Amino acid sequence: MSGISKFDVIVMGAGAAGMMCAAQAASTGKTVLILDHAKAAGEKIRISGGGRCNFTNLHCGPQNFISQNPHFAKSALKRYTQWDFIELISTHSISWHEKTLGQLFCDDTAKDIIAMLLRMMKKERVELRLQTSVTSVRHSDGLFDLVLNDGSTLQASSVVVATGGKSIPKMGATGIGYQIAEQYGHSIIETRPGLVPLTFGEDTKQDFSALPGLSVPARVTANGTGFSEGLLFTHRGLSGPSILQASSYWNEKDPIHVHILPERTLFEDLRALRKEHGKKSISNVLAMVLPTRLADYFSNQMRLTGNLADQSDVDLRAIATYLSAWELFPTGTEGYRTAEVTLGGVNTDQLSSKTMESRLVSGLYFIGEVVDVTGWLGGFNFQWAWSSGWAAGSAI
Ligand code: FDA
Repeated sequence: MSGISKFDVIVMGAGAAGMMCAAQAASTGKTVLILDHAKAAGEKIRISGGGRCNFTNLHCGPQNFISQNPHFAKSALKRYTQWDFIELISTHSISWHEKTLGQLFCDDTAKDIIAMLLRMMKKERVELRLQTSVTSVRHSDGLFDLVLNDGSTLQASSVVVATGGKSIPKMGATGIGYQIAEQYGHSIIETRPGLVPLTFGEDTKQDFSALPGLSVPARVTANGTGFSEGLLFTHRGLSGPSILQASSYWNEKDPIHVHILPERTLFEDLRALRKEHGKKSISNVLAMVLPTRLADYFSNQMRLTGNLADQSDVDLRAIATYLSAWELFPTGTEGYRTAEVTLGGVNTDQLSSKTMESRLVSGLYFIGEVVDVTGWLGGFNFQWAWSSGWAAGSAI
């Protein structure tokens, strides 16, 4: 067996979760190798948040995550919190700001976070190997053998699978984490794209043809869970934060319900406008509260005619109700090509919530997006990567 390099820990995947875990595991004196098939570490961090990385959320808690076991994320999130990560980046002199709804972004660039993680790993003597992938994993006598793409073999007492989800395949996402889990008897909660724009059939697209590029405040509800944020019309259908959030709760064939201008009391507003602007056409009055193209769209959909003065209270109530409970049937999503995250993943029933270790194979860990824990939009997915990575790194 001579010539085989042996490590205490091998981390597969140098993304957010993997790098946090590697630095933490090495800080307790373990020999740690982290490998990635990409040319650079932390590529998703680099492109996240429009290049500024929405690295956590001030209001992060278990309620912001979707999992078949809603309790699973609690322990890791409690033991390594958003405040811990804020303190970490402050120690590394990375300045940040809150954009909205508790979402924290780097002032300068997401590359600062990658540089920090690389520095942390270097300080703890973590070995980083890029453009390296694992072709097979074997486990016997308490040791893992990892065969690499160049034919060489590495050995480790612990293996951490941090290979992420399936989103954005052109950035190197693969399903290898799920394959390794299944190889060792873990079940996978069905995976599907999350935080993803919704698409519509030809008829609806035709109806929307004048609207792409237009955005409006809305509350979008799918399967009983609603989000009040911006809604954006696109050439393929609907996007914007409220739609991305709702997409994670939407299943094929379900409707979504959209409340346009949820902060306004539209019925009262239209009644008040009727006093002063009774001679205006109803679509022109709607254009006083909505973008003109959208006012035209709704006027057509509701077949509104005549002046505002012609509309009774019952008519105005019907208009307000239509705009507060607009029902739409998406036909699909844009898929993994544009999805920010993968819903589902390694079943948490077979993992320790404290350490992320497999309950089936000792020394095997799963962290980050590969696990069936998916955050809302707004920095929650990175917080899960930091928290689960730290939990495993501390436990190994
Ligand atoms: P991640 O995907 O980061 O890392 C996995 C690593 O494993 C990759 O480096 C990959 O190359 C490597 N790998 C995969 N297969 C391999 C193989 N076979 N062999 C070797 N290596 C392999 N979240 C958030 O909280 N705030 C935000 O602002 C954003 N923004 C955002 C924008 C975009 C465009 C996307 C696609 C996603 C986001 N996210 C986000 C989500 C966030 O990026 C994601 O949840 C985390 O990166 C997950 O971290 P992981 O470390 O688990 O996986």
